[in-house]
Amino acid sequence: MERINFTSTLFILAFLFRSCSALKEGQTCVADRNCDSGLHCETCLANGNVRPRCTRIQPLNPSAKVKGLPFNRYSWLTTHNAFSRLGESSATGSVNLAPRNQQDSITSQLNNGVRGLMLDMYDFNNDIWLCHSFGGKCYNYTSFQPAINVLKEIQVFLEANPTEIVTIIIEDYVTSPKGLTKVFDAAGLRKFWFPVSRMPKNGQDWPTVDDMVHQNQRLVVFTSKSSKEASEGIAYEWKYLVENQYGDGGMIAGSCPNRAESSPMNTMTRSLVLVNYFPDNPDLTQACKYNSAPLVSMVNTCYEASGKRWPNFIAVDFYKRSDGGGSQEAVDIANGHLLCGCGNIAYCKANGTFGTCEQPQADIAPAPKATSMNSSFAYLDSQPVRLWWLFGSVLVGILLSL
Ligand SMILES: *[C@@H]1O[C@H](CO)[C@@H](O)[C@H](O)[C@H]1NC(C)=O
Ligand SMILES: *[C@@H]1O[C@H](CO)[C@@H](O)[C@H](O)[C@H]1NC(C)=O
Ligand SMILES: *[C@@H]1O[C@H](CO)[C@@H](O)[C@H](O)[C@H]1NC(C)=O
Repeated sequence: MERINFTSTLFILAFLFRSCSALKEGQTCVADRNCDSGLHCETCLANGNVRPRCTRIQPLNPSAKVKGLPFNRYSWLTTHNAFSRLGESSATGSVNLAPRNQQDSITSQLNNGVRGLMLDMYDFNNDIWLCHSFGGKCYNYTSFQPAINVLKEIQVFLEANPTEIVTIIIEDYVTSPKGLTKVFDAAGLRKFWFPVSRMPKNGQDWPTVDDMVHQNQRLVVFTSKSSKEASEGIAYEWKYLVENQYGDGGMIAGSCPNRAESSPMNTMTRSLVLVNYFPDNPDLTQACKYNSAPLVSMVNTCYEASGKRWPNFIAVDFYKRSDGGGSQEAVDIANGHLLCGCGNIAYCKANGTFGTCEQPQADIAPAPKATSMNSSFAYLDSQPVRLWWLFGSVLVGILLSL
Protein backbone atom coordinates (compact mmCIF):
# COMPACT_ATOMS: atom_id res chain seq x y z
CA MET A 1 0.00 0.00 0.00
CA GLU A 2 2.69 2.40 1.09
CA ARG A 3 4.63 1.46 -2.00
CA ILE A 4 1.74 2.14 -4.35
CA ASN A 5 1.18 5.56 -2.85
CA PHE A 6 4.81 6.42 -3.25
CA THR A 7 4.87 5.27 -6.84
CA SER A 8 1.77 7.19 -7.75
CA THR A 9 3.22 10.29 -6.10
CA LEU A 10 6.22 9.92 -8.36
CA PHE A 11 4.02 9.68 -11.42
CA ILE A 12 2.17 12.81 -10.41
CA LEU A 13 5.50 14.54 -9.99
CA ALA A 14 6.70 13.26 -13.34
CA PHE A 15 3.57 14.63 -14.98
CA LEU A 16 4.01 17.91 -13.23
CA PHE A 17 7.55 18.53 -14.35
CA ARG A 18 7.04 17.17 -17.83
CA SER A 19 4.06 19.40 -18.53
CA CYS A 20 5.29 22.61 -16.94
CA SER A 21 8.41 24.36 -18.04
CA ALA A 22 7.58 27.65 -16.33
CA LEU A 23 5.49 27.38 -13.22
CA LYS A 24 3.30 30.12 -11.87
CA GLU A 25 3.01 31.58 -8.38
CA GLY A 26 1.91 28.94 -5.87
CA GLN A 27 2.73 25.92 -8.03
CA THR A 28 4.92 23.13 -6.73
CA CYS A 29 8.55 23.30 -7.81
CA VAL A 30 11.90 21.67 -7.17
CA ALA A 31 14.31 24.42 -8.13
CA ASP A 32 14.20 28.15 -8.89
CA ARG A 33 14.55 27.49 -12.60
CA ASN A 34 11.21 25.64 -12.63
CA CYS A 35 9.44 28.92 -11.86
CA ASP A 36 8.46 31.80 -14.11
CA SER A 37 10.69 34.85 -14.06
CA GLY A 38 10.18 37.02 -10.99
CA LEU A 39 9.58 33.91 -8.88
CA HIS A 40 11.76 31.47 -6.98
CA CYS A 41 11.18 28.11 -5.34
CA GLU A 42 10.88 27.90 -1.56
CA THR A 43 8.99 26.50 1.40
CA CYS A 44 7.73 28.49 4.37
CA LEU A 45 8.12 26.17 7.32
CA ALA A 46 7.33 28.98 9.74
CA ASN A 47 3.81 28.92 8.30
CA GLY A 48 3.72 25.14 8.12
CA ASN A 49 4.06 25.13 4.34
CA VAL A 50 6.46 22.31 3.54
CA ARG A 51 5.58 22.05 -0.15
CA PRO A 52 8.18 23.96 -2.22
CA ARG A 53 6.25 26.53 -4.22
CA CYS A 54 7.03 29.27 -6.68
CA THR A 55 6.90 32.51 -4.69
CA ARG A 56 7.46 36.07 -5.76
CA ILE A 57 10.72 37.95 -5.54
CA GLN A 58 9.77 40.96 -7.72
CA PRO A 59 7.04 43.56 -7.28
CA LEU A 60 5.32 44.93 -10.38
CA ASN A 61 7.09 48.02 -11.69
CA PRO A 62 4.72 50.87 -10.77
CA SER A 63 6.18 53.61 -12.95
CA ALA A 64 5.98 51.31 -15.98
CA LYS A 65 2.26 50.84 -15.40
CA VAL A 66 1.12 54.35 -14.54
CA LYS A 67 3.31 57.24 -15.55
CA GLY A 68 3.37 60.89 -14.73
CA LEU A 69 2.52 60.89 -11.02
CA PRO A 70 4.50 62.65 -8.28
CA PHE A 71 7.23 60.55 -6.66
CA ASN A 72 5.20 60.40 -3.43
CA ARG A 73 2.38 58.63 -5.29
CA TYR A 74 4.42 55.44 -5.70
CA SER A 75 5.45 52.71 -3.28
CA TRP A 76 8.91 51.14 -3.38
CA LEU A 77 10.23 47.87 -2.00
CA THR A 78 12.99 48.69 0.48
CA THR A 79 15.62 46.46 2.03
CA HIS A 80 16.61 46.94 5.67
CA ASN A 81 20.39 46.71 6.06
CA ALA A 82 20.58 46.04 2.33
CA PHE A 83 24.35 45.44 2.55
CA SER A 84 24.21 42.87 5.34
CA ARG A 85 24.15 39.77 3.23
CA LEU A 86 24.25 36.14 4.30
CA GLY A 87 27.58 34.49 3.70
CA GLU A 88 29.50 37.71 3.19
CA SER A 89 32.71 37.99 5.17
CA SER A 90 34.40 41.22 6.17
CA ALA A 91 36.62 42.78 3.52
CA THR A 92 39.20 43.22 6.31
CA GLY A 93 39.64 39.46 6.22
CA SER A 94 38.37 39.26 9.77
CA VAL A 95 35.52 36.97 10.77
CA ASN A 96 32.22 38.86 10.48
CA LEU A 97 29.93 38.36 13.46
CA ALA A 98 27.28 40.88 12.44
CA PRO A 99 23.71 39.64 12.04
CA ARG A 100 22.48 39.32 8.43
CA ASN A 101 19.34 40.80 6.94
CA GLN A 102 19.38 39.93 3.24
CA GLN A 103 20.30 37.07 0.95
CA ASP A 104 21.61 38.67 -2.23
CA SER A 105 23.82 41.46 -3.55
CA ILE A 106 22.72 45.06 -4.08
CA THR A 107 22.82 44.48 -7.85
CA SER A 108 20.54 41.48 -7.52
CA GLN A 109 18.21 43.42 -5.21
CA LEU A 110 17.98 46.26 -7.73
CA ASN A 111 17.36 43.83 -10.58
CA ASN A 112 14.54 42.31 -8.53
CA GLY A 113 12.84 45.68 -8.23
CA VAL A 114 14.13 46.86 -4.85
CA ARG A 115 14.23 50.67 -5.05
CA GLY A 116 14.94 51.69 -1.46
CA LEU A 117 18.21 50.66 0.19
CA MET A 118 18.95 51.18 3.88
CA LEU A 119 22.70 51.44 4.39
CA ASP A 120 24.65 51.94 7.64
CA MET A 121 27.76 54.01 7.02
CA TYR A 122 30.75 54.50 9.32
CA ASP A 123 34.20 56.03 9.32
CA PHE A 124 36.55 53.06 9.25
CA ASN A 125 40.08 52.38 7.99
CA ASN A 126 40.39 55.95 6.66
CA ASP A 127 37.38 55.38 4.44
CA ILE A 128 33.59 55.06 4.61
CA TRP A 129 32.47 51.50 5.29
CA LEU A 130 29.22 49.59 5.48
CA CYS A 131 29.09 48.16 8.92
CA HIS A 132 26.59 46.69 11.31
CA SER A 133 27.84 47.85 14.64
CA PHE A 134 27.07 49.41 18.00
CA GLY A 135 28.10 52.59 19.82
CA GLY A 136 28.60 54.38 16.50
CA LYS A 137 31.94 52.66 15.92
CA CYS A 138 32.82 50.05 13.33
CA TYR A 139 35.02 47.06 14.19
CA ASN A 140 36.72 44.52 11.98
CA TYR A 141 34.33 41.83 13.12
CA THR A 142 31.22 43.92 12.40
CA SER A 143 32.44 45.42 9.12
CA PHE A 144 31.34 44.43 5.62
CA GLN A 145 33.07 46.42 2.91
CA PRO A 146 33.94 49.93 1.77
CA ALA A 147 30.72 51.79 0.87
CA ILE A 148 32.11 52.76 -2.51
CA ASN A 149 31.79 49.18 -3.76
CA VAL A 150 28.05 49.15 -3.20
CA LEU A 151 27.57 52.74 -4.37
CA LYS A 152 29.28 51.78 -7.62
CA GLU A 153 26.79 48.93 -8.05
CA ILE A 154 24.01 51.49 -7.71
CA GLN A 155 25.78 53.75 -10.22
CA VAL A 156 25.98 50.92 -12.75
CA PHE A 157 22.28 50.16 -12.27
CA LEU A 158 21.20 53.79 -12.73
CA GLU A 159 23.37 54.06 -15.82
CA ALA A 160 21.88 50.90 -17.31
CA ASN A 161 18.27 51.70 -16.36
CA PRO A 162 17.64 55.31 -17.39
CA THR A 163 14.03 55.42 -16.18
CA GLU A 164 14.57 53.97 -12.71
CA ILE A 165 14.77 55.96 -9.47
CA VAL A 166 16.65 54.67 -6.40
CA THR A 167 16.42 55.94 -2.83
CA ILE A 168 19.25 55.45 -0.32
CA ILE A 169 18.45 55.86 3.36
CA ILE A 170 21.64 56.21 5.38
CA GLU A 171 22.00 55.39 9.03
CA ASP A 172 24.82 57.85 9.29
CA TYR A 173 27.75 57.48 11.72
CA VAL A 174 30.17 59.34 9.48
CA THR A 175 31.88 62.28 11.18
CA SER A 176 34.87 62.80 8.87
CA PRO A 177 34.56 66.15 7.04
CA LYS A 178 32.55 65.72 3.82
CA GLY A 179 32.98 61.97 4.20
CA LEU A 180 29.71 61.10 2.47
CA THR A 181 30.14 63.73 -0.23
CA LYS A 182 33.52 62.31 -1.12
CA VAL A 183 32.34 58.72 -1.36
CA PHE A 184 29.25 59.57 -3.44
CA ASP A 185 31.38 61.66 -5.78
CA ALA A 186 33.99 58.93 -6.07
CA ALA A 187 31.26 56.43 -6.96
CA GLY A 188 30.08 58.62 -9.84
CA LEU A 189 26.68 59.21 -8.29
CA ARG A 190 26.72 63.01 -8.21
CA LYS A 191 25.26 63.26 -11.72
CA PHE A 192 22.08 61.47 -10.56
CA TRP A 193 21.62 63.51 -7.38
CA PHE A 194 18.13 64.76 -6.62
CA PRO A 195 18.75 68.16 -4.97
CA VAL A 196 17.41 68.94 -1.51
CA SER A 197 16.11 72.25 -2.88
CA ARG A 198 13.51 70.35 -4.94
CA MET A 199 12.19 68.31 -2.02
CA PRO A 200 8.83 69.60 -0.78
CA LYS A 201 9.13 71.04 2.73
CA ASN A 202 5.50 71.36 3.67
CA GLY A 203 3.70 68.24 2.58
CA GLN A 204 3.27 69.16 -1.08
CA ASP A 205 3.63 66.67 -3.91
CA TRP A 206 7.11 65.79 -5.08
CA PRO A 207 8.09 66.38 -8.70
CA THR A 208 6.74 63.67 -10.97
CA VAL A 209 8.80 60.58 -11.65
CA ASP A 210 8.87 61.56 -15.33
CA ASP A 211 10.36 64.91 -14.41
CA MET A 212 12.95 63.24 -12.20
CA VAL A 213 13.83 60.94 -15.08
CA HIS A 214 14.01 63.74 -17.66
CA GLN A 215 16.29 65.79 -15.42
CA ASN A 216 18.26 62.65 -14.59
CA GLN A 217 17.76 63.37 -10.88
CA ARG A 218 17.17 59.72 -10.12
CA LEU A 219 19.02 59.24 -6.86
CA VAL A 220 17.23 60.34 -3.68
CA VAL A 221 19.45 60.25 -0.59
CA PHE A 222 18.44 60.72 3.03
CA THR A 223 20.72 60.89 6.06
CA SER A 224 19.89 60.41 9.73
CA LYS A 225 22.20 63.34 10.65
CA SER A 226 20.37 66.65 10.52
CA SER A 227 23.52 68.79 10.22
CA LYS A 228 24.44 67.29 6.86
CA GLU A 229 21.58 68.97 5.05
CA ALA A 230 23.23 72.37 5.55
CA SER A 231 26.83 71.20 5.37
CA GLU A 232 26.65 68.71 2.49
CA GLY A 233 23.25 69.09 0.84
CA ILE A 234 22.12 65.64 1.98
CA ALA A 235 18.47 65.64 2.99
CA TYR A 236 17.72 65.07 6.66
CA GLU A 237 15.39 62.09 6.49
CA TRP A 238 12.69 63.10 8.98
CA LYS A 239 12.15 66.53 7.47
CA TYR A 240 10.66 64.73 4.47
CA LEU A 241 9.15 61.51 5.73
CA VAL A 242 7.40 59.94 8.64
CA GLU A 243 8.48 56.49 9.70
CA ASN A 244 7.04 53.94 12.11
CA GLN A 245 8.94 52.18 14.88
CA TYR A 246 11.42 49.60 13.61
CA GLY A 247 12.19 46.24 15.23
CA ASP A 248 9.96 44.29 17.59
CA GLY A 249 8.18 47.48 18.68
CA GLY A 250 6.98 47.96 15.10
CA MET A 251 5.55 44.46 14.80
CA ILE A 252 2.71 44.69 17.30
CA ALA A 253 -0.44 43.98 15.29
CA GLY A 254 -2.86 46.88 15.12
CA SER A 255 -0.44 49.60 16.17
CA CYS A 256 1.82 51.83 14.08
CA PRO A 257 3.68 54.27 16.34
CA ASN A 258 6.31 56.61 14.89
CA ARG A 259 9.96 55.94 15.62
CA ALA A 260 11.47 58.42 18.07
CA GLU A 261 13.25 60.52 15.44
CA SER A 262 10.15 60.86 13.25
CA SER A 263 7.16 63.17 13.63
CA PRO A 264 3.89 61.35 14.35
CA MET A 265 2.73 59.20 11.44
CA ASN A 266 -0.17 61.53 10.63
CA THR A 267 2.06 64.60 10.20
CA MET A 268 0.90 65.81 6.81
CA THR A 269 3.78 68.28 6.38
CA ARG A 270 5.94 65.26 5.57
CA SER A 271 5.08 64.05 2.07
CA LEU A 272 6.53 60.54 2.34
CA VAL A 273 5.61 57.58 4.55
CA LEU A 274 7.97 54.71 5.39
CA VAL A 275 6.82 51.47 6.99
CA ASN A 276 9.39 49.24 8.71
CA TYR A 277 8.43 45.63 9.34
CA PHE A 278 11.21 43.43 10.70
CA PRO A 279 12.19 42.17 14.16
CA ASP A 280 15.09 43.34 16.35
CA ASN A 281 17.00 40.18 15.48
CA PRO A 282 16.83 39.25 11.80
CA ASP A 283 15.30 35.80 11.41
CA LEU A 284 15.67 33.99 8.10
CA THR A 285 13.28 31.20 9.11
CA GLN A 286 10.44 33.42 10.32
CA ALA A 287 10.89 36.08 7.63
CA CYS A 288 8.61 34.25 5.18
CA LYS A 289 5.82 34.51 7.72
CA TYR A 290 6.47 38.13 8.70
CA ASN A 291 6.69 39.21 5.05
CA SER A 292 3.29 37.74 4.22
CA ALA A 293 -0.14 38.37 5.80
CA PRO A 294 1.20 40.19 8.92
CA LEU A 295 3.06 42.68 6.71
CA VAL A 296 -0.03 43.42 4.63
CA SER A 297 -1.97 43.87 7.83
CA MET A 298 0.63 46.32 9.19
CA VAL A 299 0.58 48.27 5.92
CA ASN A 300 -3.16 48.70 6.45
CA THR A 301 -2.68 49.69 10.09
CA CYS A 302 -0.03 52.25 9.14
CA TYR A 303 -2.27 53.58 6.35
CA GLU A 304 -4.84 54.49 9.00
CA ALA A 305 -2.20 55.86 11.41
CA SER A 306 -0.63 57.99 8.66
CA GLY A 307 -3.74 60.03 7.89
CA LYS A 308 -4.93 57.52 5.31
CA ARG A 309 -1.68 57.49 3.36
CA TRP A 310 -0.22 54.35 1.81
CA PRO A 311 3.48 53.82 2.44
CA ASN A 312 5.99 55.02 -0.14
CA PHE A 313 8.63 52.69 1.26
CA ILE A 314 8.07 49.24 2.72
CA ALA A 315 11.23 48.03 4.46
CA VAL A 316 11.80 44.37 5.33
CA ASP A 317 14.50 41.81 6.10
CA PHE A 318 15.06 38.90 3.67
CA TYR A 319 12.81 40.51 1.07
CA LYS A 320 12.83 37.38 -1.10
CA ARG A 321 11.28 35.24 1.58
CA SER A 322 7.51 34.79 1.78
CA ASP A 323 4.81 32.15 1.78
CA GLY A 324 3.43 33.46 -1.48
CA GLY A 325 3.13 37.11 -2.46
CA GLY A 326 5.37 38.53 0.26
CA SER A 327 6.70 42.06 0.53
CA GLN A 328 6.29 42.22 -3.25
CA GLU A 329 2.55 41.83 -2.89
CA ALA A 330 2.46 44.39 -0.06
CA VAL A 331 4.14 46.89 -2.40
CA ASP A 332 1.71 45.95 -5.21
CA ILE A 333 -1.21 46.58 -2.86
CA ALA A 334 0.11 50.00 -1.82
CA ASN A 335 0.73 50.88 -5.47
CA GLY A 336 -2.75 49.74 -6.44
CA HIS A 337 -4.25 52.24 -4.01
CA LEU A 338 -1.76 54.99 -4.81
CA LEU A 339 -1.79 54.74 -8.58
CA CYS A 340 -5.33 53.90 -9.50
CA GLY A 341 -7.48 53.44 -6.40
CA CYS A 342 -7.58 49.65 -6.83
CA GLY A 343 -6.69 46.95 -4.29
CA ASN A 344 -3.58 45.91 -6.19
CA ILE A 345 -1.52 47.40 -9.00
CA ALA A 346 -2.30 44.25 -10.97
CA TYR A 347 -5.86 45.57 -11.28
CA CYS A 348 -4.83 49.03 -12.53
CA LYS A 349 -5.45 49.70 -16.22
CA ALA A 350 -2.29 50.99 -17.92
CA ASN A 351 -2.72 54.79 -18.08
CA GLY A 352 -6.34 54.31 -17.01
CA THR A 353 -8.42 56.80 -15.07
CA PHE A 354 -8.28 56.65 -11.27
CA GLY A 355 -10.81 54.18 -9.89
CA THR A 356 -10.98 52.05 -13.05
CA CYS A 357 -10.00 48.55 -11.98
CA GLU A 358 -9.63 45.41 -14.07
CA GLN A 359 -10.65 41.95 -12.96
CA PRO A 360 -7.83 40.06 -11.30
CA GLN A 361 -6.23 37.51 -13.57
CA ALA A 362 -7.10 33.92 -12.76
CA ASP A 363 -3.72 32.42 -13.51
CA ILE A 364 -2.50 32.32 -9.93
CA ALA A 365 -2.75 28.86 -8.42
CA PRO A 366 -4.93 28.68 -5.29
CA ALA A 367 -3.02 29.22 -2.08
CA PRO A 368 -2.21 25.88 -0.49
CA LYS A 369 -3.79 25.14 2.85
CA ALA A 370 -1.32 25.46 5.69
CA THR A 371 -0.90 22.12 7.35
CA SER A 372 -1.37 22.07 11.09
CA MET A 373 2.33 21.68 11.58
CA ASN A 374 3.58 22.37 15.05
CA SER A 375 5.11 25.82 15.04
CA SER A 376 8.21 24.62 16.82
CA PHE A 377 8.88 22.56 13.73
CA ALA A 378 9.55 25.84 11.99
CA TYR A 379 12.80 26.20 13.85
CA LEU A 380 14.05 22.87 12.58
CA ASP A 381 16.37 22.82 9.67
CA SER A 382 14.54 22.25 6.42
CA GLN A 383 17.16 19.70 5.31
CA PRO A 384 14.98 16.58 5.65
CA VAL A 385 12.28 18.17 3.52
CA ARG A 386 14.77 19.35 0.94
CA LEU A 387 16.31 15.88 0.82
CA TRP A 388 12.94 14.31 0.22
CA TRP A 389 12.30 16.64 -2.69
CA LEU A 390 15.76 16.14 -4.04
CA PHE A 391 15.24 12.39 -3.88
CA GLY A 392 11.88 12.78 -5.57
CA SER A 393 13.25 14.96 -8.32
CA VAL A 394 16.11 12.57 -9.05
CA LEU A 395 13.60 9.74 -9.43
CA VAL A 396 11.44 11.90 -11.63
CA GLY A 397 14.47 12.57 -13.76
CA ILE A 398 15.06 8.85 -14.10
CA LEU A 399 11.42 8.23 -15.00
CA LEU A 400 11.46 10.97 -17.60
CA SER A 401 14.54 9.58 -19.23
CA LEU A 402 13.05 6.09 -19.57
C1 LIG B 1 41.54 44.75 11.28
O1 LIG B 1 41.76 44.58 9.90
C2 LIG B 1 42.88 45.30 9.41
C3 LIG B 1 42.86 45.23 7.90
O2 LIG B 1 42.79 43.90 7.46
C4 LIG B 1 44.14 44.75 10.05
O3 LIG B 1 45.26 45.45 9.57
C5 LIG B 1 44.02 44.91 11.56
O4 LIG B 1 45.10 44.32 12.19
C6 LIG B 1 42.73 44.29 12.08
N1 LIG B 1 42.57 44.65 13.46
C7 LIG B 1 42.26 43.75 14.39
C8 LIG B 1 42.10 44.29 15.78
O5 LIG B 1 42.11 42.57 14.13
C1 LIG C 1 0.79 54.85 -21.44
O1 LIG C 1 1.39 56.11 -21.63
C2 LIG C 1 2.73 56.06 -22.07
C3 LIG C 1 3.28 57.46 -22.13
O2 LIG C 1 2.30 58.42 -22.27
C4 LIG C 1 2.80 55.34 -23.41
O3 LIG C 1 4.14 55.23 -23.80
C5 LIG C 1 2.21 53.95 -23.25
O4 LIG C 1 2.20 53.31 -24.52
C6 LIG C 1 0.80 54.03 -22.71
N1 LIG C 1 0.32 52.68 -22.47
C7 LIG C 1 -0.89 52.29 -22.83
C8 LIG C 1 -1.24 50.85 -22.58
O5 LIG C 1 -1.72 53.04 -23.32
C1 LIG D 1 2.51 21.89 19.21
O1 LIG D 1 3.17 21.47 20.37
C2 LIG D 1 2.62 21.99 21.56
C3 LIG D 1 3.43 21.52 22.76
O2 LIG D 1 4.71 21.13 22.38
C4 LIG D 1 1.16 21.51 21.70
O3 LIG D 1 0.57 22.05 22.85
C5 LIG D 1 0.39 21.96 20.47
O4 LIG D 1 -0.91 21.45 20.52
C6 LIG D 1 1.07 21.49 19.18
N1 LIG D 1 0.37 22.07 18.04
C7 LIG D 1 0.02 21.36 16.97
C8 LIG D 1 -0.69 22.09 15.90
O5 LIG D 1 0.26 20.17 16.84
